Amino acid sequence: MQQNFLQVIYLIGSITFIAGLKYLGNAKTARKGNIIAAIGMTLAILGTIFLYENSEGIRLQNLGLIFGGLILGSLLGYIAAKRVQMTAMPEMVSLFNGMGGACAMLISLIEIQHFTSHGIDINSMPKGEFLIIIIGMIIGSVSFAGSIIAWGKLSGKINDKSFGLQQMINIGLLIVIFGLAILAIVSGGEYTTQMFYGVLVLSLLYGILFVLPIGGADMPVVISLLNSFTGVAAACGGFLYDNKVMLVGGILVGSAGTLLTMVMCKAMNRSLINVLIGNFGGGAASAAAGSSSVQGTIKEIKASDVAILMKYAKKVVIVPGYGLAVAQAQHVCHELETLLESEGVDVKYAIHPVAGRMPGHMNVLLAESNVSYDKLIEMEEINPEFATTDVVLVVGANDVVNPAAKSDPTSPIYGMPILEVENAVNVIVNKRSMKAGYAGIENELFYKPKTSMFFGDAKKALTELVSEIKSL
Ligand code: TAP
Repeated sequence: MQQNFLQVIYLIGSITFIAGLKYLGNAKTARKGNIIAAIGMTLAILGTIFLYENSEGIRLQNLGLIFGGLILGSLLGYIAAKRVQMTAMPEMVSLFNGMGGACAMLISLIEIQHFTSHGIDINSMPKGEFLIIIIGMIIGSVSFAGSIIAWGKLSGKINDKSFGLQQMINIGLLIVIFGLAILAIVSGGEYTTQMFYGVLVLSLLYGILFVLPIGGADMPVVISLLNSFTGVAAACGGFLYDNKVMLVGGILVGSAGTLLTMVMCKAMNRSLINVLIGNFGGGAASAAAGSSSVQGTIKEIKASDVAILMKYAKKVVIVPGYGLAVAQAQHVCHELETLLESEGVDVKYAIHPVAGRMPGHMNVLLAESNVSYDKLIEMEEINPEFATTDVVLVVGANDVVNPAAKSDPTSPIYGMPILEVENAVNVIVNKRSMKAGYAGIENELFYKPKTSMFFGDAKKALTELVSEIKSL
């Protein structure tokens, strides 16, 4: 009876994950989605702790240890999530993902020890079970080691490191890992245990070598990919324990991570292979692009002149980018928007799918300062509107408004869809200098006759702009 009740709880948990994911697809309902999925997860965990019985009717032991771990983990997670800066969010996601990978790896190790500690030869383990354990361990360890390296890179603790033949070595290592794993499963010889631990060590090494050479700025794509690996590893755990909720959760994470990776690559118009082995931003591509640097002069504009342009405009579109997040200028940006609206100006935000450094970066940032979701307009929808826009204010964005993506086939971002701000009557660009953005290339938009450069840190510049508008 209790076991049936547990299965019902697992079913409810699985449904909440699916519903949660659905709600997460929209900024308005994302918070609700997160809470729904968290409730489902809590139910599944508590159900397992209090209701699960093994085939001999034995319940979970060590409740003190289990709850100690749960409380400690929840506390650490809560403090980390409360303290993290928006710009450091990819680092935290990477670290949390690494923990998921480590869990999958540990499940495999514990299950092997569980089996052998009863004095049973590892070779007598059912082959199907051994296969799942070893797959979960390989994927979990790659994901764990890779995520930790990704975290180190994003936090500036580890530099990009590549050496000759690295890709060949990585491919060779993968072949050895899978070869050894197959041998361990099918050979039935006396070295199976050693082979199993050999696979573990080589998988950890592969995780490190796989992520080390990838450009630091490509880490969000890699994290999303590693996240999908963790999902697959968790799904292996679901198979192993015949646990439906773990299986569904793992499959959802695996498929959502894969989709997100694909969406990010598509929005940057790059293939996954190019992300994994190409050195984007500062590499050969940008060096080549740098050689055909843009000619022309730039026009500077003062806050007082921007204020006049904006106050007397009918329609203003704000284009937020990575610099807005760096400057933490979202609150003053919202203040500018409400001020202009009170003057009768129609104000919208143009959201590029890869603006910033993580999926939904701009949406989350602007939501933090209570910008209404209806004002955040996606690229395809806003592009036709630029022709009827009086002033576009680009705040800390660069690549996502670079016309080279459409006009220069030699540019590393050629083919990437962009916000076509050059179609507006006036374009004001706020950034601190003429430095390049993520792709490491010049932007001809800054040299166009319609464009005026409004230099300064975004927070300082927008604060000055707001007070100039108020004084008009
Ligand atoms: P970027 O092209 O990186 O440009 C950001 C600009 O912000 C820089 O040129 C910088 O110029 C300026 N800036 C930095 N700090 C500032 C501050 N405090 N105040 C004002 N400006 C500041 O940003 P973007 O246009 O948002 O494009 C995003 C890029 O990241 C794309 O190339 C995209 O492919 C890539 N990417 C995105 C993602 C996701 S999922 N979003 C993932 C991986 C890669 P100054 O130094 O002169 O101020």
